[in-house]
Amino acid sequence: MTSEEIRKRFLEFFKERGHAIIPSAPLVPENDPSVLFTTAGMQPLVPYLLGEPHPAGKRLVDVQKCVRTQDIDEVGDNTHDTFFEMLGNWSLGDYFKEEAIKWSFELLTDKENGFGLDPKRLYITVFEGDENAPRDTEAFEIWKKYVPENRIYFMSAESNWWSASESGPCGPDTEMFYDITPEGLGDISKEEYLKADDEQKVVEIWNDVFMEYVKKDGKVVGKLANKNVDTGAGLERLAMVLQKKNNIFETDLFETIWPAAKQLTEDNRSARIISDHIRTAVFMIGDGVIPSNTDQGYILRRLIRRAVRRSSSTLLPVVKAVIQKYASIYPELENESELIEQEIQTEEDKFRKTLDAGLKQFEKGEDPFILFTSYGFPFELTKELAKEKGIELDEKTFQEKFKAHQDLSRAGAEQKFKGGLADTSEQSVRYHTATHLLHQALREVLGDEVQQKGSNITPERLRFDFTFPRKMTEEEKEEVEKIVNSKINEALPVNKVVLPKDEAERTGALHFFGEKYPDQVSIYYIGEDLEHAYSKEFCGGPHTSNTSELGTFRILKEEAVSAGVRRIKAVLE
Ligand code: ALA
Repeated sequence: MTSEEIRKRFLEFFKERGHAIIPSAPLVPENDPSVLFTTAGMQPLVPYLLGEPHPAGKRLVDVQKCVRTQDIDEVGDNTHDTFFEMLGNWSLGDYFKEEAIKWSFELLTDKENGFGLDPKRLYITVFEGDENAPRDTEAFEIWKKYVPENRIYFMSAESNWWSASESGPCGPDTEMFYDITPEGLGDISKEEYLKADDEQKVVEIWNDVFMEYVKKDGKVVGKLANKNVDTGAGLERLAMVLQKKNNIFETDLFETIWPAAKQLTEDNRSARIISDHIRTAVFMIGDGVIPSNTDQGYILRRLIRRAVRRSSSTLLPVVKAVIQKYASIYPELENESELIEQEIQTEEDKFRKTLDAGLKQFEKGEDPFILFTSYGFPFELTKELAKEKGIELDEKTFQEKFKAHQDLSRAGAEQKFKGGLADTSEQSVRYHTATHLLHQALREVLGDEVQQKGSNITPERLRFDFTFPRKMTEEEKEEVEKIVNSKINEALPVNKVVLPKDEAERTGALHFFGEKYPDQVSIYYIGEDLEHAYSKEFCGGPHTSNTSELGTFRILKEEAVSAGVRRIKAVLE
């Protein structure tokens, strides 16, 4: 079964069961400062899992683009990747365990409209219980109707409790694994199952989370208003299982990407890394990320550099293969193809020069650690070069310095992930409303070519990226500040309407051009009525109810992010 067919069957199956199909949100969360990338289908839905009504209803289904880089060092094995598509269905306070499990089983095993998997090869895990929540005997009992009891295992929170971060919605989950050995594992004990999992003889294909709890700073603090269902099935893994491959790179998703990568290296692991990293880089740039030294841009830069190091010549053919493979499903890749190719090529050229310079420094005897931090020279490469030249390296000193460096960057990353998922603290909400005013004021002063490229809000400040070809003058910045403050002083109401997409577009509300929106969209407008509102934007909220709640707006900084993109940092005082 092709990946296209898998996506289609998943969406259709749930559509027939009353679910609204919603489009994938962008990879960069719009108003969530706590994560750099969308890492799960539920992430763009957090406000709704917390209780806000979703415009499309209580049953949703989608295919969401995701990026996870915490296992980047595992990429190159059979199943790990940094980009993936997550198939997911949601119940927002509607059905719960009974239907979720029944439908998962039906879709996986139904031969006609589902995936036709062999039920005898399914293994199930359920939550064993701890101080936060009881043993999930309910899920166990429901599963028993479909799978023999001795292939259902109780597991601890480490594997069967799901939350996206330290704060936010969470709950116990039940996971489905599929046996991919040729002979079949049959009835196995829990110990044997754990071993099979370790040896990648069984592959996790789907996770149903029963999201009824809420966490704060790492602790479960209570129940949500609703009992929700959040599920996630990885497209790559399903394709691998359904196409009877033992690794994701042999699935049809990589059928044109893999041969292009193989042209660049003899080593299979390196070709897998190139295929994976370039696929991720293409999707990131398609969603507006540009290589840089901070945040999303830094992760993108690292991915491209890791691919460059493993390839003998230009990565462009791999880039083109990715765009071609996915363009029909993700039109943003086609729309941005020139930019994507150009950014990756430029980054590659720059890094190849750096590598050459690093090589010269190495020959002059530079400290391997400096080579690593300043020239991006991996220790492995330095070691290989040293061996060729018969030079001895002090590996211990390098490892010590490396560890100290890693601890520092980890502390930085933890800082970034702190503060909850969708940060809906009062101050962040104020900054969100101020961001809408700023966006409109910028268009008033600089013209309609100003378009939002990114927004990042913390309780301390707002950061807004927008298209504009040059530095703003002092007068322009003052003018923008003046306008925002006058709108605050006018004490304008902030309101929301939900409209069918066409109608919403006709209101002239700002939205991301080329992005797919659901059939029903919500618009936040600032002003007495929608028609005459000062600001209108497609947006999921939340916002303050009146601009008078904001305080005084001040721009701290205006700077370049990349060619044609400017960034403003501003505060409310
Ligand atoms: N949110 C769950 C996951 O990502 C479904 O596994």
